[in-house]
Amino acid sequence: MKFFVDTADVDAIAELAQLGMADGVTTNPSLILKSGRDILEVTREICALVDGPVSAEVVAQKADAMIAEGRKLADIAENIAIKVPLTWDGLKACKVLTGEGRMVNVTLCFSAAQALLAAKAGASFVSPFIGRLDDINLDGMDLIADIRAIYDNYGFETQILAASIRSVNHIAQAAVIGADVATAPPAVLKAMACHPLTDKGLATFMTDWEKTGQKIL
Ligand code: E4P
Repeated sequence: MKFFVDTADVDAIAELAQLGMADGVTTNPSLILKSGRDILEVTREICALVDGPVSAEVVAQKADAMIAEGRKLADIAENIAIKVPLTWDGLKACKVLTGEGRMVNVTLCFSAAQALLAAKAGASFVSPFIGRLDDINLDGMDLIADIRAIYDNYGFETQILAASIRSVNHIAQAAVIGADVATAPPAVLKAMACHPLTDKGLATFMTDWEKTGQKIL
């Protein structure tokens, strides 16, 4: 499974990239707002930090304007994936932009039917939002499983980018199902290293080591 970092925080991306934990990055208008940075400037910096896809989202609603914005965003760097919303106009824009050889991430996917359309429009990635489905008492993980089954049934190459991830368990469950990518905030990716039994075991080892009176260095 590839890990994308769901943030526009350059320092956080740099830290994860150094560890090989950032195979790509996803941003959206809310994350750009949170960063307080200019979208073109911060996206250029992010693209220089990672080799993999960096999703930058269009904000137009009509296909023609989305295509124009997408081309401008794609000019930032070769590793830009243009993010378009899963609307009829977004699908039209996806078809044109992928036809030009550009990567497209179709975002805000909340149903298997929507994911099927994204694949047929040639999307490079589809982004089902797990956490936002859980927020309204639906099961986001069921959606990941349904999309995996549909894409495997018909051999679609669109990558499933599990998004709106709120917990370590979301990542583990999406990996079990076979999502191609998980995009998660830096804090969730770092929390994957934590387990209370690891902490407890380490404390015991340290206490016993003290009692040996030995040193390694
Ligand atoms: C994905 O590309 C989105 O940027 C992100 O995962 C949305 O997450 P949220 O629902 O926590 O805002």
